[in-house]
Amino acid sequence: MPATQLLLLKDDLIEQIKLGLEGSKSQLMMLPSYVDILPNGHESGDYYAIDIGGTNVRVMHVCLGQEEGSIESCTVKEWPIPVKCFDTNTNALFEWTVDCFGELLEGQSHPIVIGFCFSFALQQTALNDGKLLMWTKNFRGNGLVGEDVVAVLVETFRKRGFDVSIPAVINDTVATLMAMKYQNQSAFAGLILGTGTNCAYIEKTSRLKNRLPEHYDTVRHPEMAVNTEWGAFYSEEHFPMCQEDIWVDCASANPGWGHFEKMVSGLYVGEVARRILLRLGHEGGLFDRQMERILSKQDCIEASLMSLVETESDLSTINTALRKALGCQMNQHQVNVVKAVFGLVSRRSARLLAVGIAAVVAQREHAEEGRDVVIAVDGSMFAKYSGFKEKVCKALEELCGVENAQRIKLQLVKEGSVLGATTVVAAAVSSGAPNSGVETLSEDSEANGIEQLTIPQRHGNSMEDGAEDLITHRTITMSEDAEQWRKY
Ligand code: BGC
Repeated sequence: MPATQLLLLKDDLIEQIKLGLEGSKSQLMMLPSYVDILPNGHESGDYYAIDIGGTNVRVMHVCLGQEEGSIESCTVKEWPIPVKCFDTNTNALFEWTVDCFGELLEGQSHPIVIGFCFSFALQQTALNDGKLLMWTKNFRGNGLVGEDVVAVLVETFRKRGFDVSIPAVINDTVATLMAMKYQNQSAFAGLILGTGTNCAYIEKTSRLKNRLPEHYDTVRHPEMAVNTEWGAFYSEEHFPMCQEDIWVDCASANPGWGHFEKMVSGLYVGEVARRILLRLGHEGGLFDRQMERILSKQDCIEASLMSLVETESDLSTINTALRKALGCQMNQHQVNVVKAVFGLVSRRSARLLAVGIAAVVAQREHAEEGRDVVIAVDGSMFAKYSGFKEKVCKALEELCGVENAQRIKLQLVKEGSVLGATTVVAAAVSSGAPNSGVETLSEDSEANGIEQLTIPQRHGNSMEDGAEDLITHRTITMSEDAEQWRKY
C-alpha cells in the first residue's frame, strides 16, 4: 500500500467523518457520547466500573485521590467471557457478568455507583442510557439490539438483590480517552486496537448540532467525546482488499459489516494470514498434507503467534512456539514464507490504523500549530504486537509529514476502559450533574440522529464451506442490495 493510496484512503475517511457529523448518510455512526463534562484531574472518591469487552469482562474498584490526577488505590479483576455468552439471544452475558461482579459487592453498602464501559455501538440520548445498535466481534444473534443496556444491567443486578446505580455508560474508546484526560489534559482521542478497533475524539458540540437535540446547550457544553465506530469504514476504490478478506468476512459473526475492523484488528489478522498461507500452500506446494490439515482449522493463528514468528530470528524458538500453538514444526524455507505473510498482514493493519489516526487528527479545528496531539491507546494488539507501533508511526510520517507525525503521541493507557468509566462517573458526580445533559435532552430520536444511522443487515452466518456461493450470490444481488454489497 503506497503512500498515495494511504492519502486517498485518509481523504475518503475524512469525508465519511464529515457526513456522519452532519447527520448525513455515512459508513461511520459518529455517535455522540454525552460525555460533555470532561475529567479535569480534580475528581476524587470511591468508584466501581464494569467493562464488557470483546474477550473479557473486567471490574475495577478505584479510589481517586485528592491530588490532581492521582489514584490512591485500584483493584482490577478480569474474567474471560465464556462461550455460552457469545450467543446474545439469551441474557447470559449480563447474568454471568453480575455473577462475577456480585462476589465483590457482597457486604457493600447500597446503592453502589458503577461506571459501565460497553464496547459496542450505542445510540445515546444521555450519559446514562444507551440503546444497543449492533453486536460485533465474536457475538452472534440480535439479543438486546434496540434495548437500553443500562436498564437491562440494572434490572439484572436488582433481580440478584443488588441495588446499583449506573450514572454513565460509555464506549471503550471514550473510556480510554477519559482515563488519559484525567492525567493529561491535552489528550485528544482514545483508540482501541485489540479484539476489535475503534476511535473516539473530542469534538466541538457546535459541529454536532444535527446529531443533538435542538435545545442542547452547546455554550454550556462546548465539547463532547464522539465515538466514530470507524470499524465500519470502507472505500470501494482504495481499500487494499484481497480474496482472503472476503472469506474472513463471510465466516465472521457479522458478515457484511466492519471491513476496516476485519483488516486491522486482533480478532481477524490471524485469520487473514492463515487463509493466505493455505492459498500459498495449495498453489505452491509449500506444505505437506498434515500441515495443510493443521492450517485448515479456523482461528488457529492468533495475533500473539504472528508477532513472535514475525520478529524472532531463531528457528528453534519459532518452532517451540509453533509446536505449542499449532502442534507442528517448519523448516527454514517455510518459516521465511510465514514470516513474510505475517509481516504483510501486520504492516497492512498498521498502515490502515495510521490512516484512521491521521483522519481523526485532521478533525482538530484551529489546532494550535506546533502542539502535541495526545492519543490514548489501549488494546492487546497495539500493546503486545512487536514493532507494531513503529509501523504505525512510519505510516503517519508518510501521511502527515515527519514533523507533524512526531507530534502525534500514541500513549498506552493501562486499564483505560475501567479507569475511564470511573473518571467519567466521578466527573459527572463532582459537577453535581450525575446524568450530565439528561435534564436538557429529550427522547427526540430524530434530533439525535437515530434515523440517520444505517444499521447493517445481517445476512445469515455463512461458514467456510458456503463462502464461495455467498460471494457469487453477492455479486448477483449487487444491484438489488447495492447499499450493502457494493463493496464486493
Ligand atoms: C465495536 C466498538 C468498540 C471496538 C473496540 C468494535 O467492534 O463496534 O464499539 O469500541 O470494537 O472494542
